[in-house]
Amino acid sequence: MNSTAYKAWLNYFPVEDRQTRKDYTGMLSQIIAPDKRIGAMDTAVRELRQGIQALLGIDASIKEQPADGGFVQLAVYSDKAGSEEWNQGNEGYTLRYRQEGGYGAITVTGGSDAGILYGVFHLLRLIGSGAPLEELNVKESPSNALRMINQWDNADGTIERGYAGRSIFYRNGSITTNLHRVRDYARLLASVGLNAISINNVNVHERETRFITAEQLPSVALVAEVFREYGITLFLSVNFAAPLQIGGLPTADPLDGSVQSWWKETAERIYAFIPDFGGFVVKADSEHRPGPFAYGRDHADGANMLADALASHGGIVIWRCFVYDCMQDWRDRKTDRARAAYDHFKPLDGRFRPNVLLQIKNGPMDFQVREPVSPLFGAMKKTNQVLEFQITQEYTGQQRHLCYLVPQWKQVLDFDTFAEGASTEVKKIVDGTLYGMTYSGIAAVSNIGDEESWTGHILAQANLYGYGRLIWNPQLSAEEISMEWTIATFGSDPEVVNVVGRMLMMSWPIYEGYTAPLGVGWMVAPNHHYGPDVDGYEYSRWGTYHFADRDGIGVNRTLASGTGYTSQYAAPNAALYDCIETCPDELLLFFHHVPYTHKLHSGKTVIQHIYDSHFWGAKEAERLQQQWAGLAGKMDEARFASIACRLADQAEHAKNWRDIINTYFFRKSGISDEAGRTIY
Ligand code: GCU
Repeated sequence: MNSTAYKAWLNYFPVEDRQTRKDYTGMLSQIIAPDKRIGAMDTAVRELRQGIQALLGIDASIKEQPADGGFVQLAVYSDKAGSEEWNQGNEGYTLRYRQEGGYGAITVTGGSDAGILYGVFHLLRLIGSGAPLEELNVKESPSNALRMINQWDNADGTIERGYAGRSIFYRNGSITTNLHRVRDYARLLASVGLNAISINNVNVHERETRFITAEQLPSVALVAEVFREYGITLFLSVNFAAPLQIGGLPTADPLDGSVQSWWKETAERIYAFIPDFGGFVVKADSEHRPGPFAYGRDHADGANMLADALASHGGIVIWRCFVYDCMQDWRDRKTDRARAAYDHFKPLDGRFRPNVLLQIKNGPMDFQVREPVSPLFGAMKKTNQVLEFQITQEYTGQQRHLCYLVPQWKQVLDFDTFAEGASTEVKKIVDGTLYGMTYSGIAAVSNIGDEESWTGHILAQANLYGYGRLIWNPQLSAEEISMEWTIATFGSDPEVVNVVGRMLMMSWPIYEGYTAPLGVGWMVAPNHHYGPDVDGYEYSRWGTYHFADRDGIGVNRTLASGTGYTSQYAAPNAALYDCIETCPDELLLFFHHVPYTHKLHSGKTVIQHIYDSHFWGAKEAERLQQQWAGLAGKMDEARFASIACRLADQAEHAKNWRDIINTYFFRKSGISDEAGRTIY
């Protein structure tokens, strides 16, 4: 596959300006690199050569020493102690320009081969955007050590919550032998600085349980090899009941000696095949997955047992906190799913091994279009933590609707937990600096499949790109990232850059506008989660209710009269959310049950807000379609038409959302729209 959609942000459109091209060519016709190269260093050279060839149409020569002329030199910084380069850390890099023998030279210096590779991708990005290189002086290092992607792919080739075709990893029940596409994926991930991947679904079924056996490990090792070339470490999701299911043991009790030995032997076997194996991702005692509870043990017992098996090999256990009662009775008004992760894990703080990380979803529920930040961030001071985002758009339009999620993630990272007083934002907790964690970082559920465009909606590529860029450097703004992505993906035509940038930045507010209002969430069709169904989850067992009646709507999570969830936050956030007067509008219905006539800070009543936001959102969805139409002729027809088609569907579907939500609340409340618009 060689289409512009497939190449995504690595299109490397030829530099058009003649002078710029000439200047670049002067500096980039020789690549200076060590002769004997392996792994990410070899990849870096290949990528650089390939990028230069596409951007400038020249074949750069590769040598150990420069001949006459400009050059770009790749070098791992060898004299590490005390040097500025080394202070960038292992994965950091510098890009510098200097004059040598009357020619321009660029050095890419890295703390490791992977650092060089990141530096090369950065350099290519600069060239692609036409940036001047004469004063080049870049110093970069990632804010987060673990920058991970979670595939929710199954061995049968399906992808849980996948919206872009089937898995690129599995075919007919086995790991694919055609690793070409996997390699292209590794390229995309490394080009935005990602360094870890788990390749199978957190729900580990029968076949994937066997990935840790001697029969399957050779195939897993081949995949690991591909990612290794791109500086990416491979992880597997494992089944906590594996000793029972494939080990022939009568139990999976984490305190049982035979179980412990079984996992130790398993770890040894894995490392014999994959010496740099990352470790395990574990979903246990969650949504019917097996776990330590069956044996009267807790999450620390379970996680520590696996951690002990991996410790001597340098492996880690990433244990998920998405644990709640998924068999709730809707009549039970005391149980609150939002409380669950905190209630389960906070008491265990301090009991986990140094090589255990807890993976915490960004919000307390499940990747809704709007949720508060999980109160677990800041609540556990002695436990390594990973933040989990969802790139795949399960609840945000399933890559049929445009929803650029970087602004949402940015809000999460910038959220001040007040855990240690003011300015203790989530980003300082997950990058490990606040509590001096040994391991920390961010993971996210991937949004790719085997469709040519990777992501179905081509504009959804911006979410994968943006995820990598944002977690490398959370100081970047969502606008900067959207602009970078647009230039790399479509070229630098200012109109395209402006229009696409505006569309991306407006897309999350628009989607929120015509879907579930004011943070209440969950008004989606059960199971597949696409499209409006206000009561779809209202009488279910999933703990996901809005309690709308003729008088009002919302979940009372206050301390005095509700579920007390607000008290899981540190002061002053606890009071901010608890008090109806100070609770931010966009989360009002998450924290409070209010009458439809309740006045928001915006001055509108809740019911009028629902009507206005839905009319606005649907209108804006139409406008996205028109804005895109204005870009006709400014890019290849295939991508233009594919995106136009998705936007047309979105505009139509947004009307459906608008009318179903507005009609539902009009019928419940009997209150008319002040503006007298059509409600059915
Ligand atoms: C959501 C999603 C499931 C997934 C689960 C998880 O509930 O709908 O498909 O398995 O999250 O994160 O484990």
